[in-house]
Amino acid sequence: MSEQTSSKVDFSKYFQPPSLKDARRRRRQAVQIINDFSIPEDMAAIGRGKQYLIETYGCQMNEHDTEVMAGILEKMGYHETDDPKLADVILINTCAIRENAENKVFGHIGTLKTLKLEKPGLILGVCGCMAQEEVVVNKILAKHPQVDLIFGTHNIHRLPQLLKEALFSKEMVVEVWSKEGDIVENLPQSRRGHFQAWVNIMYGCDKFCTYCIVPYTRGKERSRHPEEIVQEVRELARQGYKEITLLGQNVNAYGKDLPDLENYGLGNLMDEIRQIGIPRVRFTTSHPKDFDDHLIEVLAKGGNLCEHIHLPVQSGSSDILKIMGRGYTRERYLELFHKIKDAVPNASFTTDIIVGFPNETDEQFEETLSLVRECEFDGGFTFIYSPRAGTPAARMKDNIPMDVKKERLQRLNKLMDEFSAKSNAKYQDQTVEVLVEGESRKNPEVLSGHTRTNKVVNFRGPKSLIGELVKVKITNAKMWSLNGEWQEETQGVR
Ligand code: 5AD
Ligand code: SF4
Repeated sequence: MSEQTSSKVDFSKYFQPPSLKDARRRRRQAVQIINDFSIPEDMAAIGRGKQYLIETYGCQMNEHDTEVMAGILEKMGYHETDDPKLADVILINTCAIRENAENKVFGHIGTLKTLKLEKPGLILGVCGCMAQEEVVVNKILAKHPQVDLIFGTHNIHRLPQLLKEALFSKEMVVEVWSKEGDIVENLPQSRRGHFQAWVNIMYGCDKFCTYCIVPYTRGKERSRHPEEIVQEVRELARQGYKEITLLGQNVNAYGKDLPDLENYGLGNLMDEIRQIGIPRVRFTTSHPKDFDDHLIEVLAKGGNLCEHIHLPVQSGSSDILKIMGRGYTRERYLELFHKIKDAVPNASFTTDIIVGFPNETDEQFEETLSLVRECEFDGGFTFIYSPRAGTPAARMKDNIPMDVKKERLQRLNKLMDEFSAKSNAKYQDQTVEVLVEGESRKNPEVLSGHTRTNKVVNFRGPKSLIGELVKVKITNAKMWSLNGEWQEETQGVR
């Protein structure tokens, strides 16, 4: 492969980085539904006798994209390997949400250089959210000529054609569309789980929280038609799947963009899915602004709809929420929180919180702590603010010193841990339903799974329980997990 830099080649026809200005105008653009995905004849057997490896960073959306890329590669004859030395194609599915996620990927791309030198025929591809960023593409072009292929989140369905170009051309292949995204319905999927599955209900995000890169890397909000989703869920139920998670960056906006369905939202979709014979249904990620009463009413019906709500708050200060562009105040969040809690008894709540947003004062951070005290979250993800190029917040001065950010994070984590322990303690001596997911990571003698409320439960039992819903009596509630005893006589009972 020849060495290239962006100065030698004009990539502008392949690479169209998203711009804030264009993104703001995109809501009016029509979404195209593509149903004619197929593998070109000359690529249909190109992977026969060859192996692929996909490394995935980031969120569930990326995990699911990896399942789609794996499905496409398997349709071309490739088999999966977990040994990079044996792989003929390695794809790195990247995450751009914070700087440390990007640094990890760059470090890893560096280490793959030796592999490429040992095996020049290896195709090394970089895809996912980082590929949607101009700075990243330029850095790869300039510093990592061992990469053969870069493609964006809107180009996944073009993988066969792109792989072909990469295999037969000596130049780095770059295809990143900034167009705001279509929906490709008939892509193959090689699901990683046999009893748990991701189901995309919508793509993209139009919320434009000022710190967040996702609306640029994932394009505009576009919902799949409910008929397509219901059909996919029915098929998963038929195949014996026990749990599905409905996925979207902002699932509460589901349906708003569907022209032929007025007032059809996530509540309506969940109400339909509730009637399908699949034991557990989850959904993520919610946005407090769009969480409506109808959804709460439907969730209150229970059944297969799991009582776990992931409701990112980001900050407990209305002033910070305002400059984050979240569209709600501390009071509105708390009102919603209590409304859901009243309607769905025993629901567990998790959240996402960012500390050290530009100008965040000690008092504003204290407001976040006091909100955590009021909500007593079961768990959550906490982050240090990280400026993302091209977002409005990145134009503000990142003026909270790192040691202050770290100290705030530590204090927040300590408080979150206290409430995690407190909520787990309520499970002591209770018998809960667990979907057994596999052996525990720490001890292969122990099985591990989740409750409906998304608590991790570890217990001893035969391996044959993997994939089953079982009853477990909690004997030791710890800070982040629950230990218990399998209640053998109720095996298989929901
Ligand atoms: N810096 C830190 N955390 C971020 N998140 C999103 N963007 C940033 C950023 N620039 C967090 C939010 C979001 C979660 C997925 O990642 O809390 O909910
Ligand atoms: Fe990012 Fe906000 Fe969209 Fe979530 S809702 S993906 S934080 S812009």
